Amino acid sequence: MPVSIVVGLQWGDEGKGKMVDHLAEKAVAVARFSGGANAGHTVEAEGRKFALHLLPSGIVRPGVKAMVGASCVLDPGAFLEEIETLEKNGITAGDRLLVSGKVNLTHPAYKLLEKQSEDSRVTGRIGTTGRGIGPTYERKCRRNAIRLEDALNPVLLRELADFHTADAQKELNLTDGQRETLLSDTDRFMEDAVRVTGYCADVSRVIGKMLEAGERVIAEGAQGSLLDPDHGSYPFVTCGQCVSGAACTGLGFGPTSVDRVQGILKAYTTRVGEGPFPTEQKGETGHRIRTAGNEFGTTTGRPRRCGWLDGVLAEYTTRLNGCTSVTVTLLDVLSGFETLKVCTGYLDGDFKTGRGMGELLPVYETLPGWSEDIRGEKNWKALPQNAKNYIEMIEKLMKVPVDSVSTGPGREDVIWR
Ligand code: GDP
Ligand code: IMO
Ligand code: MG
Repeated sequence: MPVSIVVGLQWGDEGKGKMVDHLAEKAVAVARFSGGANAGHTVEAEGRKFALHLLPSGIVRPGVKAMVGASCVLDPGAFLEEIETLEKNGITAGDRLLVSGKVNLTHPAYKLLEKQSEDSRVTGRIGTTGRGIGPTYERKCRRNAIRLEDALNPVLLRELADFHTADAQKELNLTDGQRETLLSDTDRFMEDAVRVTGYCADVSRVIGKMLEAGERVIAEGAQGSLLDPDHGSYPFVTCGQCVSGAACTGLGFGPTSVDRVQGILKAYTTRVGEGPFPTEQKGETGHRIRTAGNEFGTTTGRPRRCGWLDGVLAEYTTRLNGCTSVTVTLLDVLSGFETLKVCTGYLDGDFKTGRGMGELLPVYETLPGWSEDIRGEKNWKALPQNAKNYIEMIEKLMKVPVDSVSTGPGREDVIWR
């Protein structure tokens, strides 16, 4: 009864989408267990490039079921738009796409509330994606959220939607025009939510049946472990839990079904939004990585902050997730650097993940780089020795095997060792 969990080991954008699509060749289903439209997962296959936000990356492979689990949050309008865009690109979701009735829906007022709260935080902006993620998870915890299954009952949906429109107005200082817009957006939200009920299913049960039949299911993580609200760089985190343990609670299966936890680690580090980033390179090095890796957000287009690999954080997140193996992605981006640095400790010793993380001063080990272009390489033996050394050093720091290396954005650009 095998489940493979795929998780990001840094601050997101590690190339999870690419690797999930790659691994989905041998799976019957891909199920998302974290976040919502804040995610941006890029898949490049058959000459086309797909930017997925709410839809699991498995949707790109015909015949693979794509599921959205209970722990996700869903913006009905954004979801329908994404299906439409895919259809224009020749991918039909149809009955392959299933959404848990338990997902919490993003009401249009939540985006307005999020904007207001970003502007008024005591400890500074988080730099969220502006997709209403925080307020949706907040309503889940307040236990008055709108779930997809509520949209099956038109009277209840109206009651809940109107409640949230009115409730938000108590906090928001809206002009008459903005109030009108919110009211019409609320009606549109309800119509869209009803349309999304067409995909509503008991995702936990469907997965259970697949596992009973011995079929492989991939649990696709979103965001990255350092954005996890419990274990990440709090308060500069997201709201959905994104470490591997969350796959079980989020999708509704037990830990005994999991036989693989694949951590995805970028060969360097990036971060979008605010918050501590000990190995950040603000000058020429950061600029060079950003240009070579085309490091601009898939969801918001924001330039990603770039820096060296943090081996201490990689060891921490590999342990948090219980990774059985790790894929190092975007190794090709580092070609041409004379030397590469990896953080192997901090000046004052102790490692902190919460508010104290900003005080960490990294200590680096310097490794020789390589000049060869390795983009698209599929053979471990053909890698320059210094590239192999770099991978082996990361492996030692994490104490988990790096079984694969991604050398390009394409579906086939993977080295299996
Ligand atoms: P995700 O959020 O973890 O799925 O990652 P994103 O899709 O947001 O960002 C990763 C970016 O790197 C995307 O543009 C991918 O197409 C690209 N990518 C993934 N793997 C590789 C790789 O090995 N090499 C290069 N050059 N690009 C890659
Ligand atoms: P994928 O799945 C990178 C970041 C935001 C912000 C913080 C909180 O593509 O790796 P939110 O809108 O979630 O309340 O924002 O989390 N963030 C991501 N950064 N990749 C993501 O997803 C992210 N999802 C959220 O930039 O710093
Ligand atoms: Mg992304």
